[in-house]
Amino acid sequence: RGHAPSPSPGLAPPAQEVLGQEKLMGILKERELRIYWGTATTGKPHVAYFVPMSKIADFLKAGCEVTILFADLHAYLDNMKAPWELLELRTRYYETVIKAVLESIGVPLEKLKFVRGTDYQLSREYTLDVYRLSSMVTQHDAKKAGAEVVKEVEHPLLSGLLYPSLQALDEEYLKVDAQFGGVDQRKIFTFAEKYLPSLGYAKRIHLMNPMVPGLTGSKMSSSEEDSKIDLLDRKEDVKKKLKKAFCEPGNVENNGVLSFIKHVLFPLKSEFVVLREEKWGGNKTYTAYEALEKDFAEQVVHPGDLKNSVEVALNKLLDPIREKFNSPELKKLTNAAYPDPSKAKPAEKGTKNSEPENVVPSRLDIRVGKVISVEKHPDADSLYVEKIDMRGVESQGMVLCASSLGEPRLVEPLDPPAGCCAGERVYVEGYEGGQPDEELKPKKKVFEKLQADFRVSEDCVAQWKQRNFLTKLGRVSCKSLKGGSIS
Ligand SMILES: *[C@@H]1O[C@H](CO)[C@@H](O)[C@H](O)[C@H]1NC(C)=O
Repeated sequence: RGHAPSPSPGLAPPAQEVLGQEKLMGILKERELRIYWGTATTGKPHVAYFVPMSKIADFLKAGCEVTILFADLHAYLDNMKAPWELLELRTRYYETVIKAVLESIGVPLEKLKFVRGTDYQLSREYTLDVYRLSSMVTQHDAKKAGAEVVKEVEHPLLSGLLYPSLQALDEEYLKVDAQFGGVDQRKIFTFAEKYLPSLGYAKRIHLMNPMVPGLTGSKMSSSEEDSKIDLLDRKEDVKKKLKKAFCEPGNVENNGVLSFIKHVLFPLKSEFVVLREEKWGGNKTYTAYEALEKDFAEQVVHPGDLKNSVEVALNKLLDPIREKFNSPELKKLTNAAYPDPSKAKPAEKGTKNSEPENVVPSRLDIRVGKVISVEKHPDADSLYVEKIDMRGVESQGMVLCASSLGEPRLVEPLDPPAGCCAGERVYVEGYEGGQPDEELKPKKKVFEKLQADFRVSEDCVAQWKQRNFLTKLGRVSCKSLKGGSIS
């Protein structure tokens, strides 16, 4: 499944990988192959999308029936890469821009089928299949399948575990023989092959091709968001970004500029013209990519000329897309789907637009206290009423305790270092300074956000993000609950 943060390659012979080759040959002998490519509607599609789109052109030329899926729910399931309230707008943007890309490279749209995830993923049938599948798939397999695709975060959400299952079910519900995508999809594909048959559905064919370095990538990385060429970038931006692209004289490895020629520009026209001034040998037309690569390796073709030629060819592809998006209606859609963060209205207090607050542990006022007495709460089995001496500090707080994760749930109070006095401040290593909040506003959930990262270390020390809880006399610990949570 394509997604904007990494280049989304299509199928590039001869380096392609096919899972289910025999079945593929069998179908091709009898009828047209039905294949789909899906893209989660997250960040703005950039020029790397030309790669899978030129593959779609190839599939059509080869007589395949091609479906393009705009996976809107997936955009949300993958760590909310597209916020819920922007999902519809982003999906509309993707549909418009991907269609413009296809038109720009001469693909007849009427031969393609376009589907949105929510067109069928909310049906009763599909939903029941999600439940059925979730009782067969192990958490381990779901996690492994999504490892390369779903964004890695400290506190992974359940939604990321659902992602591979939905992608597997899509193959059945889109009624296709095959799915294609980059090799980064491999684990999702093998997951689908393993689990679809357990629901009584056919195992599908999977076509993969290698990851293509981004056009402007520096070495392997194409993660620098600013350097990516947006499909709607102006000519001067294209020039500026290409100028920065990694393209070393004679080096054909990890060369995004050469890759773009190989995977996009060459397949489109079956030729590529290197534009050069007369004094440097004049223009040269290549009809085989390998010949160009060889000339570049031997420094017959220089990076400056190569970039310049790609710029001209790329602008020819982008012109009709920019033209289309020049209408007031589409300008409005673009701005609404991808609001410019620098133009965001100064946030009002407490709105969800406000800057993420600096949630650091020094905002908490944690103190050492001496437990004087403990009594069972009269109305609740699991609560205790405690009297705590905090040396004149009035507290309406709670006592921090470590608890084990398994059953039965064991609880131990946190112990300050020996010799501590009641009322002494407890802080987190590296966050000694800073005034604690006057009052923790319940709505802001400052404590809850910090507490999510409280843990007991392997040597029983209380920590926040692997930093020790300290008083001036040393570390705060518990008796035995290694790896436990703290609340
Ligand atoms: C190279 O080709 C370009 C575009 O077709 C043309 O404008 C230019 O005059 C040619 N340059 C030479 C040196 O022939």
